[in-house]
Amino acid sequence: MRTVVEVTETVVETPSTITLRFPYEPPADPGQFVMVWIPGDDELPMSLSYTEGGSKGVTVKAMGETSRRFLSLRRGTPIGLRGPYGNRFDLSPHRVLVVGGGSGTAVLAPAAERALARGAFVTVALGATRADELLFRDRLRAAGARVEVATDDGSEGTRGYVTALVSSLLERETFDAIWTCGPEIMMSKVASAASPKGVPVFCSVERHMKCALGMCDACALGPYHVCVDGPVFRADRLTSTEDFARFHRDPSGRRVPF
Ligand SMILES: Cc1cc2nc3c(=O)[nH]c(=O)nc-3n(C[C@H](O)[C@H](O)[C@H](O)COP(=O)(O)OP(=O)(O)OC[C@H]3O[C@@H](n4cnc5c(N)ncnc54)[C@H](O)[C@@H]3O)c2cc1C
Ligand code: FES
Repeated sequence: MRTVVEVTETVVETPSTITLRFPYEPPADPGQFVMVWIPGDDELPMSLSYTEGGSKGVTVKAMGETSRRFLSLRRGTPIGLRGPYGNRFDLSPHRVLVVGGGSGTAVLAPAAERALARGAFVTVALGATRADELLFRDRLRAAGARVEVATDDGSEGTRGYVTALVSSLLERETFDAIWTCGPEIMMSKVASAASPKGVPVFCSVERHMKCALGMCDACALGPYHVCVDGPVFRADRLTSTEDFARFHRDPSGRRVPF
């Protein structure tokens, strides 16, 4: 489906992140993304941070020029949408560790909520540079998740990277699966920490996208097209490529180091 809708609600989540809610009927599952644009502007892939019912949402972090313009949108502004695209998280595991780095938590929150609603036990390791950049901490707690926090500057929770928190949780507890989204170096470290414990890790990855239909090759990651084979991949499929946590492709398709 491809359409233009009006933004019905905006929520400032952190100093650099905003959620846009809008009416969008096509069914969607946690993990999937939409292509979204301000009419006349460039199109960006965005994970759905709200997947239920007819009121969906995306949560946008100000990065470069295009994403920054999303932060100035207001209620009633038209936005273009197509999708949802891509695969989804397998929500069947019972004891799940969710590892969110920065805005990566946008795609994990609806997965955690839906798993909790099915009776899963969900622990969240939430990382951010500082306390006011922690995304969806209160939303996840309200849904019933146990949320543990790490901030780079120690302004809340454990001081340091969220990966140290993950290692300590893996030492103390047993999990059936880990779902993670954030910087690829972070996801790669999570995969390394989980591997000796035999816990499967599922990563939501980002690449430059054009068609979102598996036809243009813009989103190539090793042998995969992230738009149709992903964006959710089991970590062992990613770590066997040369690209994961090392290279991505620029808008012209050139492979460049992270
Ligand atoms: C599956 C998926 C889900 C994502 N989910 C989120 C999310 O939930 N929240 C979030 O904040 N970000 C998400 N992103 C990242 C987002 O799409 C952009 O890459 C990011 O916002 C940076 O865009 P920019 O315009 O600010 O960057 P710039 O560096 O300014 O971009 C330079 C140019 O490239 C274009 N561009 C940048 N990134 C992409 C891209 N991935 N595909 C196509 N064109 C691009 C821009 O429009 C601009 O023309 C996701 C990406 C993918 C692939
Ligand atoms: S964006 Fe065109 S193949 Fe994935």
